[in-house]
Amino acid sequence: MRNLRLPGHDEVLSYFDALIDGSKTPEDVSTWAKAYFPNDEIDIPDNAWHIWEALDYLYGCDLQASKNVALHSRENFIDARAEFLEKSNLTNNMTQPLLIAFDGPAASGKGTLASVIAADYGLPFLDTGLLYRAVGHVARERGLDLEDTQALGEAAQFIHPTLLEDDALRGREAGEWASRVAAIPEVRAALKQFQIDFAHQTSGAVLDGRDIGTVIAPDATVKLFVTADPETRAKRRFLQLIKANSALTFEDVLSDIRIRDERDSSRSSAPLEMARDAVLLDTTNLDIEAAIEAARSIVKARRGGV
Ligand code: CDP
Repeated sequence: MRNLRLPGHDEVLSYFDALIDGSKTPEDVSTWAKAYFPNDEIDIPDNAWHIWEALDYLYGCDLQASKNVALHSRENFIDARAEFLEKSNLTNNMTQPLLIAFDGPAASGKGTLASVIAADYGLPFLDTGLLYRAVGHVARERGLDLEDTQALGEAAQFIHPTLLEDDALRGREAGEWASRVAAIPEVRAALKQFQIDFAHQTSGAVLDGRDIGTVIAPDATVKLFVTADPETRAKRRFLQLIKANSALTFEDVLSDIRIRDERDSSRSSAPLEMARDAVLLDTTNLDIEAAIEAARSIVKARRGGV
């Protein structure tokens, strides 16, 4: 898929929009296109613009051979356009795969928001924290020394997506170990390419973590930095963890969160920081529904309203 802006790109797009909102008729569009493309860049036999051919031109694709649909009504345009976009993996008027980066501190709600947005757009989702949690888990199980950065880097090379299903990775200790191994450059280097490839698959993707918008996908279409004050985050995390560990106190969790914030923000390798072009979403005073709506609006606004 190419990110081309062929001659007439904006005009074609504005005629498509006008067709959809009903302010132009198929005849208006055909008359305009015939005059605009006198050299037959877009074939307009019998005064009927062939929709797929026009969309191919607009999006720099080559799909029209198998199916072409003459434009004869607003409804048939909408149906043909939807089918074209599905086939070409484009969404609405975007010419690039949709890549969304969620970053933020522990228990800010970024994982929940990222998975909802991924489902909204039908995109694959990667919780990158699980990769670091998996490395921490392996390190703990094998008794690896946290000073032995080479052994930890090697262990990270063998992390496989199937290992991420393990429930043990979601616990408190796994989070603590994850943040320790995540500060090690050899570990980050070993996990980097997998994340870059996941982010840049042709379908588009949603990732959440600490360095998605800054290191893994600086080219992301939309970047959100999700945060909340430490007490609010600790309260949310406490309610999650207490189910598995009734001896846990709120103070334990708050202290974990403060230590993790400090470690994640102060490490030299890919520290937690907001990308310059990220949108800040503070969820301190938002319940989950309100936070989801806020995230949806940010994504929509960044995509030009679609
Ligand atoms: O769910 P929570 O926010 O507690 O943590 P997580 O996203 O599962 O990440 C666990 C730890 O992995 C974090 O504290 C970070 O130290 C590290 N991490 C990272 O360094 N870079 C990422 N892209 C994701 C996680």
